[in-house]
Amino acid sequence: MEVVIVPDAKAGGELIAEAIGALLSRKPDALLGVATGSTPLPIYQALAAKVRSGAVDASRARICQLDEYVGLPAGHPESYRSVVLREVVEPLGLSEASFMGPDGSAEDVQAACLAYDKALAEAGGVDLQLLGIGTDGHIGFNEPCSSLASRTRIKTLTEQTRIDNARFFDDDITQVPHHVITQGIGTILESRHPILLATGEGKADAVAQTVEGPVASVVPASALQLHPHATVVVDEAAASKL
Ligand code: GLP
Repeated sequence: MEVVIVPDAKAGGELIAEAIGALLSRKPDALLGVATGSTPLPIYQALAAKVRSGAVDASRARICQLDEYVGLPAGHPESYRSVVLREVVEPLGLSEASFMGPDGSAEDVQAACLAYDKALAEAGGVDLQLLGIGTDGHIGFNEPCSSLASRTRIKTLTEQTRIDNARFFDDDITQVPHHVITQGIGTILESRHPILLATGEGKADAVAQTVEGPVASVVPASALQLHPHATVVVDEAAASKL
């Protein structure tokens, strides 16, 4: 596992946007797995700026989602589909045709999970998977004690994650769905290059356990230690307990 410490979130975003640009120059139709939450926004802003200036050609990039709420209509502004379209697909000048995600409003959620894993494999696998980290060490929505071999499936959110995410739902926890679809830890480990970005002091404990702790399902992000080419980018605050 490669750990890179940067001064702040903006520098982390710039560094990872450069890595994405380098990938796209080698493989213009690379499949980029994107994460939601506040942490990756500087990556998307830096990448969109590079596209606008002509430094990066993302016109053939393909984008895929990491996870999704169950039960929110696809058009809900906080469905991860809407968030990824708004924060990534549109700013990069891509069309919806270049984007794929699990169907959180499917009648048969189990079938939607299986279909998504199959679609990822048929698309040739994820070339670069961006990840944030929850305060409890979760990646995607793989909460503590998720199987390290898990595939895309339905999960129940912990109370802490629902509290953390209530800020996207008018600070009203009752609006935060209880269930989600998430790529499994096994699915994430199949990506060719997972890159986790963590910023701020609130992530320092989770980062220390991810990087220096044992590989354990209680800290799902620690599974990245098993990947031959995983990168963890942390700002100084998030690195403060390393
Ligand atoms: C949610 C997402 C994760 C994300 C996490 C942290 O749980 N499913 O992918 O990493 O939030 O979000 P933030 O970056 O806002 O702290």
